[in-house]
Order: sequence, then C-alpha cells, then structure tokens
Amino acid sequence: MNTSRPLRIAMAGLGTVGGGVAEALAARAGELASRGGRALELVSVFARDRKKARKKELANIPWADDLAAMAKSDADVVVELIGGENGAALSLVEASLRAKKHVVTANKALLASHGTKLAALAEQNGVALKFEAAAAGGIPVVKALRESLIAHGVDAVRGILNGTCNYILTQMEATGRSFEDVLADAQKLGYAEADPELDVGGGDTAHKLSLLAGLAFGIAPDLKNITTQGIRHITPEDIRFAREFGYRIKLLGVARATPHGIDQRVQPAMVRLGTPLADVDGVFNAVRADAGAAGPFFFEGRGAGEAPTASAVVADLVDIARGSIGPVFGRPASALKAVSPAPPEARTSAFYLRFKVLDLPGVLADIARQLARCEVSIESMIQRGRGHGEAVSIVMITHECPQAAVERALNAIEGSDKVIGQPCMIPMEAG
Ligand SMILES: NC(=O)c1ccc[n+]([C@@H]2O[C@H](COP(=O)([O-])OP(=O)(O)OC[C@H]3O[C@@H](n4cnc5c(N)ncnc54)[C@H](OP(=O)(O)O)[C@@H]3O)[C@@H](O)[C@H]2O)c1
Repeated sequence: MNTSRPLRIAMAGLGTVGGGVAEALAARAGELASRGGRALELVSVFARDRKKARKKELANIPWADDLAAMAKSDADVVVELIGGENGAALSLVEASLRAKKHVVTANKALLASHGTKLAALAEQNGVALKFEAAAAGGIPVVKALRESLIAHGVDAVRGILNGTCNYILTQMEATGRSFEDVLADAQKLGYAEADPELDVGGGDTAHKLSLLAGLAFGIAPDLKNITTQGIRHITPEDIRFAREFGYRIKLLGVARATPHGIDQRVQPAMVRLGTPLADVDGVFNAVRADAGAAGPFFFEGRGAGEAPTASAVVADLVDIARGSIGPVFGRPASALKAVSPAPPEARTSAFYLRFKVLDLPGVLADIARQLARCEVSIESMIQRGRGHGEAVSIVMITHECPQAAVERALNAIEGSDKVIGQPCMIPMEAG
C-alpha cells in the first residue's frame, strides 16, 4: 500500500454512526494523520436520501452515484454503515472486497451470517475487513481478542452486549416496574426500537457473541450454535428475589470452552452482587474475557451511540492507514473451525428456580422430590406465602448441576396441577 498519500475513504450510510465518523475524522484530522502515518480523507459518501439534513462535516463531500459505483471508485477503504444482514450492505461489502478495497463495518448482523465467507474474500483479495464497532460498540474488545489475548488463549467470554436490555433490567430493579412498562418508557426515551424484538429477544446479543466467540476460539461465527433466550419472561419478583440471594439478573452472551465443545448461549443470568458484570448499569456494555493463566480481563464502556461507535470505526481506519491488515478473525479464514452446538452435558451451573404454586400441603415436598429424582440438590430456598389455597412463590438456588437434569425435573413439576404456569430457571454465572 502506498502510504505517502492520504487514505481515501468512501462511506455508505450517513445516519447515527456515519455522521459520528464524519465528525470525528474532521475534528481530529491532524491527530489521526499523525497516528495513522498519513491523512485520512473522506472522498465519497452515499445514503438513501440526498435531501436529508446531515452533519455539517458531510456538506462538501461528493456523493457517489450509487453503491456499485462506490465499490468501483478509487477509494482505498469502503466504510459500510448501512446495516442489515443481507441486501445493500452485503452487496457493497462483497463488491468492495472483490475490488480489493479494505472494508470497515459496524454491522454485526451481516458478519454473524456471512463473517467466514467475507473473511475468506478479504484474504483472497489481500485487504482488511475490520469490525471493531460491531461488538460492544466503543469498547475495543475485538482488537483485544484478535491481537492481545493470544498467548494463553481464552477459556470463556461473557458479555453484557445489548444496552437496551441492560437499561430495561436496571430500570426494573430501580423502580420495581414490569418489563412491559419499562420497555414502553425506554421506547419513548429512544433507548429501545419501535420493534424491540431483536434486542429484548436476545438476537442482537447473539450476533455480537458469534463474533466474539469467533475471535476467542477460532470458530466460524454461526448463529445456529447459539442458544438464545431474551428477557421478556423476567419479572420484578425475580429481580427482587435475586437481590435477596445476593445476585443481579443480567442478559449475558456467554461462550465457553468445555470438555464437550464450545458452549455458546444468550440468556438472563444471575451474577453475584459486587462482581464487575453485576455493577454494569443502564445502557453500558461490558465484556469479561478469561485468558487462561493470564487471568480475567474486564472491559466496560458504551456499546452504542454516535461517538462511541464512531470511535471504534475510526480506530479501524487508523489501523488500515498504518498498513495493519491481518486476518479478519485473527487467523486464516480457512482455519476457522465449523463447530456444532455444544451438547446439553456441556452446561452445568447452579440455578435459580422460581415456581408459582397453590399454597397447599405437600406442594413443596412434591417439588423437592422431583428435583431429588433428577439429582438436583438445593442450596437455599425462600417461600413467600399469602394464605391457604392461594398462589405463592417458591424460589430455590440449586447446587451446581447439569442444566439437562434441571430441565428434566421442571418438565415433571410443570405437569402438577398445583403448579401455576411455567417455572422460571436462570443459571448463575461468574461476573
Ligand atoms: N447506532 C449505534 O449506536 C450502533 C452501534 C453499533 C453498531 N451499529 C451498526 O452500525 C450500522 C449503522 O447504524 P446506524 O445506527 O448509524 O443506522 P441509521 O442511523 O439508521 O443509518 C443508516 C444509514 O444507512 C443508509 N441506508 C439505509 N439503507 C440504504 C441503502 N439501501 N443504500 C444506501 N444507504 C442506505 C441510511 O440512509 P438515509 O440517511 O438516507 O435514510 C442511513 O444514512 C448498523 O449496522 C448498526 O447495527 C450501530
């Protein structure tokens, strides 16, 4: 790469992130040139609507005729900030890589589905495909997993990767209000999308986890390997009980090496109060990476928003300006292992269990019998009663045991006519 001339950047997508990138490139041009060894110059932009009001830094940048023209232009790097798993974003990234342009993207949905194929395409064409902003926004965890935490390997990555869910859970605890009420407020405040399902259903966390697991374990990102559960079923009561037991509920993405394979899941987890992950509040994100003998590392910061996300995109651009190309997931794309979902025996932990039952004689004994039959032993228990024959909550913390054993017991318990609705099961996780 010729490093005596500016790095020429074409940027598609001029919304929240694109606007932030344009602003940062202009505001810190001198410093970025010094860091990158040459100027970073925004030479061409594109979005859907030319008439829309944009950041002032975008006012004098020429527009490409279309996305295809951008991929064929004389830019060195194409920045894809459109979003979406397929469609325009995928076409642009593929065409740009084929045209031997480096690509920077913040698009986790795209990479979760096409990451391995696009990594191979980047390598074949000798260009970079960088995605720091795609997982945990402004937190530089992609680079840390790709380049830094390699001497001792990584045993486990756990992350709070979705600010919307963390905000909702934090507010539910602070106010005692229901998931639905807090979600409605979050939508009014702009912290949750009008269609919140990708966030609250855990899908967005799964996209990001697939990338972190790819980097940490050298496996091909594949959503099929991730068991995903969201936070809709979490009640204020669960949050209160968690606190009584000394825990806080967080939606975690967890990828862990087990003797049975890499276990990957997204689910609400009980994290002990006072540990770093338990203390991550509101819209913040965090990642804990356990790096073998080097020990645990903890990263916390803003996982979304204009400036944090732009920070990550610009860091990738400076890397490229310096000539740091490297393989996309830290090893050759051909070395990324295609794995299967970890079998049920890969999952063991202690569990929080909540049952709504009729307050009748023998109910507790029935539940305890089913748990014992499946070799699930109970560490502690709380029962909150109202009156004979009314619904009460029984809450238990189990000793460490296989998740499959707990599920077997719950299936049997659910069939009882004294148990109301579905029992709630939440694993304990290291924070
Ligand atoms: N926002 C965040 O905090 C954040 C954090 C991490 C990662 N990301 C990722 O960053 C990417 C961009 O997010 P964003 O929040 O900036 O989105 P956004 O505000 O909705 O902006 C999207 C931009 O893409 C343009 N666009 C949409 N469809 C297009 C098409 N077919 N052809 C050309 N341009 C098109 C839009 O054009 P118009 O402006 O003309 O409508 C808009 O400028 C996504 O992949 C997102 O997941 C975002």
